[in-house]
Amino acid sequence: MSLREKIEHLKKEKNAIILAHYYQTPEIQDIADYVGDSLGLSQKAAETNANIIVFAGVYFMAEMAKILNPEKIVVLPDLNAGCSLADSCPPEAFSEFIKTHPNHIVVTYVNCSAEVKALTDIVCTSSNALKIIESIPEGQPIIFAPDRNLGKYIIKQTGRDMLLWDGSCIVHEAFSMSKLLELYKQHPDAVIIAHPESDEYILKTASYIGSTAGMINYVKTCPKEKFIVATEAGILHKMQQEVPGKVFIPAPTEEDNTCDCSECAFMKVNTLQKLYNCLLNESPQIEVPENIRKKALLPIKRMLELSK
Ligand code: 13P
Ligand code: SF4
Repeated sequence: MSLREKIEHLKKEKNAIILAHYYQTPEIQDIADYVGDSLGLSQKAAETNANIIVFAGVYFMAEMAKILNPEKIVVLPDLNAGCSLADSCPPEAFSEFIKTHPNHIVVTYVNCSAEVKALTDIVCTSSNALKIIESIPEGQPIIFAPDRNLGKYIIKQTGRDMLLWDGSCIVHEAFSMSKLLELYKQHPDAVIIAHPESDEYILKTASYIGSTAGMINYVKTCPKEKFIVATEAGILHKMQQEVPGKVFIPAPTEEDNTCDCSECAFMKVNTLQKLYNCLLNESPQIEVPENIRKKALLPIKRMLELSK
């Protein structure tokens, strides 16, 4: 049996579901039961009847699945699948920050630890961030963490004044403005689209800004044929599958790397072999201390409720 067939077989035998993010490798995306953005993945995790959730993504995503499903086994192919953005917001420092700014409602982007979510009033993702902020009464002071670029983008779009945590994602901060403009000169017929975790100056060049799912939807519906895509390059696989006739060019980074694109090393530590191993061994499992889980569950539930 091929590795793929073995995974399919084990999945049925163990009543497992494979959830994968768009930044995973093509072979992982192609074997997943569901491929989506952070919101879609959390919605799927909230509604699944499977006994085991194999989370092909990064740690905070698998942790969120576990927070929603304490009775289920949640496995991650490689525990080293972290996130630079989540790491940029240590819970102790964030707790101090909140204490120095009382009366603020705390909204955190899903890319953070369970401990940080436990300090939060409402969680959001890039696809519902504007809606979540707009649901908060005018005049109510807001702390937004951990992504400063998404925070600045929300401030610009909603006109709300938010206190921002100074965190960022290395993958989305890697894009080079000069190389992007050079690329655009070579492809003046292309439409630039970007994820809101990107720097402000990259976002200024974009005709569309949105979550990974939003970007995929945009390329499907936009009549244009060519797109320069400023987000993690794994998304190009799904775009190409959804609209095979169109051309997708990854936005270039400052570094001269092999793919001339931006890849998330954390997402890419997962492999098909590791996915098989974690399903077979039911390890490594994600565990969240019950006191943290209960506190982190409330802001996630509020988000899911507001996203209906
Ligand atoms: P979304 O897929 O929710 O847009 O998030 C992007 C991301 O950086 C995930 O780590
Ligand atoms: Fe974290 Fe950025 Fe990788 Fe997403 S792309 S998992 S935000 S480091």
